[in-house]
Formats: sequence, structure tokens, C-alpha cells
Amino acid sequence: MISLKVNGKIYKVEVPADTTLLWVIRDSLKLTGTKYGCGIGECGACTVLIDGKAERSCTISAADVEGKEITTIEGLPESHPVKRAWIKEQVVQCGYCQPGVMLQVASFLSERPTPSAEQIIDRMDDIICRCGTHLRIKKGIHAAVQMTGKEG
Ligand code: FES
Ligand code: FES
Repeated sequence: MISLKVNGKIYKVEVPADTTLLWVIRDSLKLTGTKYGCGIGECGACTVLIDGKAERSCTISAADVEGKEITTIEGLPESHPVKRAWIKEQVVQCGYCQPGVMLQVASFLSERPTPSAEQIIDRMDDIICRCGTHLRIKKGIHAAVQMTGKEG
């Protein structure tokens, strides 16, 4: 039995010891906003926050994150600047990659509230969006920074 704290709620799940966090979130907890893309830590679709930091849930065993604060896209408040900025800039195309992208951005901006253009490219370079929304992701990040009133 594993006990996980996800979006502020404690869940107890019975899964094989090597089950990844991604599949516990999706299959056991039915929080399907977290997506499966590559399964090998390369694309970012499965990104969640663990103690506030963006991590790829397809490469982490659920048992290893007992006792940590896990946040999925469902747990990011609607009022969060990243969610508001994504709507303002209409960043999403098919949407498949975007829960992971938004959580990576939320983690990035919590570490670096006023990033430079180079820092944005550097931090977001490892996400794969098959719809090619990268320029809109960049605009979304700038909008989120403005919404926090910290830009400039
Ligand atoms: S599904 Fe986890 S990084 Fe691609
Ligand atoms: S919006 Fe379609 S894969 Fe990114």
C-alpha cells in the first residue's frame, strides 16, 4: 500500500512496487490531465510538480514520492497566472502536451519570476509539442510574468 498526497488530498493505493507515478495518477486516481507521451522522460507530457518542482512522472516510481506534495494540472488553481495567461494568449492547439508544459512553466517561474528570453528558451527546450505551439508558449510565459506584476 502506497500513500500519496496529490493536490492536497491523501490517496492510498495498492499497486506493484515499480509502478510509475504517471500510471498511479492516471489509472488509480483517475486524474487524466497528466498525459503519457514517450514514457522515457524525453517529451514532458507527463510533467507534474513534486514539492513545487517540475518532474517527469513517467520515470519516477510512485513509492519514491510518498510523503511529498504532488500537484497535477487539476491542482493548479484556475487563478494561477499560467492558467490565465494560457487562456489570454490561446496557447493551446490540440492540448495534449499542455498540462505538462504549464506545470513546467509554473515551476520555472517560481524559481525565476522574471526570466530573460534566453532563459525561457533554455528551460523550455526539452518539451515536445507536436502541434508546434512553442512561440505561443513563449508569449504565454511573458503574459504570465506580466500578470504577476513583476516584469520589467
Ligand atoms: S511521457 Fe514522460 S517525458 Fe514523455
Ligand atoms: S498543443 Fe498539441 S502537442 Fe502541444
